[in-house]
Amino acid sequence: MGRQLTISCFRYNPNIPGDKPRMQDYKLEEYEGMTLFVALNEIREKLDPTLMFDFVCRAAICGSCAMLINGRPRLACKTMTRTLPSRFTVMPLPVFKLIGDLSVDTGTWFRNLQIRTESWIHTNKKFDFNALEVRMENKTAEAIYEPERCIECGCCVAACVTANIREDFLGATGINRVARFILDPRDERSNAEYFEVVGNEDGAFGCVGIMACADLCPMEIPLQENLAFVRRKMAAAGLKLQFPGVKIS
Ligand code: FES
Repeated sequence: MGRQLTISCFRYNPNIPGDKPRMQDYKLEEYEGMTLFVALNEIREKLDPTLMFDFVCRAAICGSCAMLINGRPRLACKTMTRTLPSRFTVMPLPVFKLIGDLSVDTGTWFRNLQIRTESWIHTNKKFDFNALEVRMENKTAEAIYEPERCIECGCCVAACVTANIREDFLGATGINRVARFILDPRDERSNAEYFEVVGNEDGAFGCVGIMACADLCPMEIPLQENLAFVRRKMAAAGLKLQFPGVKIS
């Protein structure tokens, strides 16, 4: 027989007039190989169909099931209950708008990020449908692929001190996005153009260096390295803009 788990869930539905935020305990038996995602589904199927939480893929791909698990942002579908004590808490991610219980709206936040960072290839070249595919160097493709692995779960944003106090901070995921396009030789934007977007306190210079983003990214993307890369570029671009005559490598 497995352990008896007590899962203390945050409950609050802002759409129900008069509803108050509270914690609600659910007890269930653990079995081998149980993930928190499975446990939450069991609660919803057998104990309380009103519990709200999100999931799509169950395989750490879609990023929907991120939540605070015993205070740390993690994916429910990637968290084995055996790695947790027999009693633990689950809460919604901070920073994002609460939909209800454990469900938050990361979609609007990420859409805003894509618009602010203009997350598409900027080029003046005309697209030729008949042209042969142009091969990219393996090294370049691999470098682009690294930041591209972000699943937009929001764990890094929820863990970020700056994002928790500055509403407009792009967060590690936003800077990571910019790094991806700087690395892409097809994108013709200059560093000065990127500076307009992230060369400020809401972008590359807002991070206070706690590094929780890199510690808690479920995809283990080197977010701090990518931030350092963008920061170096933006510092050089800022100096060039400030002192146009001076040569800066
Ligand atoms: S359900 Fe898709 S990442 Fe967890």
